[in-house]
Amino acid sequence: MAKITPNSLACVLLAVHRALTAGITVDVEDADSIKAAAALVAEDLMSYYDGNEPGNTPGILPEASSDKGFYYWWTGGLLWGSMLDYRSHTGETKYDDLISQGLQWQAGQNADYLPANYTATLGNDDQAIWALAALDAEESGFAAPPADDPQWLALAENVFNEQAGDARRVADGDCKGALRWMLFPSSNGYDYVNSGSNVGFFNLAAQLAYVTKNETYEDAAGDTYDLLSDIGFVTDKFQVYDGAHVEDCSDINKVQFSYNAAMLLQGSAYLYNHTDGDDKWKTRVDGLVDSILATFFPDGVAFEVSCEKASACNTDMMFYKGVLHHGLGATMQAAPHTAAKILPVLKTSAKAAAAQCTGGDSGRLCGFHWSTGKNDGTTGAAQQLGVLSALVSILPQQAVAAGSNSSGSGAGSSGNTGSGSQNGTESDTSDSDTPGSLGAKVSTSFGALVGALVLGGLFLA
Ligand SMILES: *[C@@H]1O[C@H](CO)[C@@H](O)[C@H](O)[C@H]1NC(C)=O
Ligand SMILES: *[C@@H]1O[C@H](CO)[C@@H](O)[C@H](O)[C@H]1NC(C)=O
Ligand SMILES: *[C@@H]1O[C@H](CO)[C@@H](O)[C@H](O)[C@H]1NC(C)=O
Ligand SMILES: *[C@@H]1O[C@H](CO)[C@@H](O)[C@H](O)[C@H]1NC(C)=O
Ligand SMILES: *[C@@H]1O[C@H](CO)[C@@H](O)[C@H](O)[C@H]1NC(C)=O
Repeated sequence: MAKITPNSLACVLLAVHRALTAGITVDVEDADSIKAAAALVAEDLMSYYDGNEPGNTPGILPEASSDKGFYYWWTGGLLWGSMLDYRSHTGETKYDDLISQGLQWQAGQNADYLPANYTATLGNDDQAIWALAALDAEESGFAAPPADDPQWLALAENVFNEQAGDARRVADGDCKGALRWMLFPSSNGYDYVNSGSNVGFFNLAAQLAYVTKNETYEDAAGDTYDLLSDIGFVTDKFQVYDGAHVEDCSDINKVQFSYNAAMLLQGSAYLYNHTDGDDKWKTRVDGLVDSILATFFPDGVAFEVSCEKASACNTDMMFYKGVLHHGLGATMQAAPHTAAKILPVLKTSAKAAAAQCTGGDSGRLCGFHWSTGKNDGTTGAAQQLGVLSALVSILPQQAVAAGSNSSGSGAGSSGNTGSGSQNGTESDTSDSDTPGSLGAKVSTSFGALVGALVLGGLFLA
């Protein structure tokens, strides 16, 4: 019998510890097991966030290249939207203060998610992601901000009103009325009409219609869907293309990203529900569900088809699986008849997603390629957020108290107070010397890299 030295005992204990902690195991048929797995993935996701530490900027993931990565401004909005989704499916409230602080810090001086540090370089799509997160807070009954500060609903409405204005839109030609990608003529991408901006606005309008019952939003959402079809960004087979250039939008870039399709589906599902099952919206919901499951879940596992095969997904694109799962999960809630098709696929996808979370020193960090059955060695906030959303998407929604500070006014926080700019003509107020805006100068907008590749013709079909 071999003699066990203290040294080899330590090794054995370490191995046992690794075996017990390595990887995220989950039984996708058991809510408690899913919640336990999601808690670990959420904790690791939040380990990338340091905006609350002294000297850092609240609300956003690290901007400068660091060991935590490098993230564009929009991903902060997606982080809080995802954490709110996690919260409302698990009841976990321990991140409430961080969520609340982040969502309020980045609201900007006009309460419209155009903070001065980023105004010059962000696109309509980026702004919409933050507005959608504020609306998630409103819809899930998250504790309202202090009464003197902008409320969740008002923030979302302010963004809607700015984006609805003519100043953000194409004035003439075949894509007249469509939202441009960027806000200012001086910005690279101002001449591009992307689906991301228009489906972001559509999803925002649809959810505002659902929340407020105000017809303005329903009409705006309906018009946006029609416009996207007319231009040819949404095909009659419910494929969603990336965008085209002004004035005539004839050079349609047919690359498909799951983010675009998922946002269009989510908004359609909200309108389906809001209209009590209107046939028009049912056709669109059902068509988009079929198209999305066929395109983005080959073999039942999420796959970012336009870049993953070539391992060419940039950090922005790696976040799309999170949007995809979140959108499908929300769709099952708003249009329950879709669950029979969607849920089995989300389960196989979530199972594969969790199974590859065996990376990093802890042995439980997630990678990006889910369908290979093994961890790809990459780590980051995008990887964590994707897996978190996959797990959350297969949990039923549950009632969660607004939060410890709540005065009971979480849900139904008051709406448009007129505090935001509704003229849509805000000027470029960004300070070019502001630390942290340097990288932003080059291209901070989410999709900027997509755009660069698009402009460079890489993804042109
Ligand atoms: C709760 O109150 C504390 C102390 O006033 C504050 O720091 C925190 O941001 C509040 N949390 C929320 C969710 O409003
Ligand atoms: C803008 O930048 C300054 C300086 O880095 C920072 O202190 C502030 O928190 C930033 N504001 C927002 C909303 O990001
Ligand atoms: C409906 O929403 C629009 C856009 O925010 C707003 O201008 C209008 O006052 C709202 N109507 C009602 C009846 O609240
Ligand atoms: C709208 O959503 C609610 C909540 O999920 C659901 O009970 C209801 O059946 C939905 N309406 C339709 C028309 O599907
Ligand atoms: C637009 O609204 C912003 C914020 O309310 C304001 O500062 C600006 O002066 C307005 N611009 C015009 C042209 O009305």
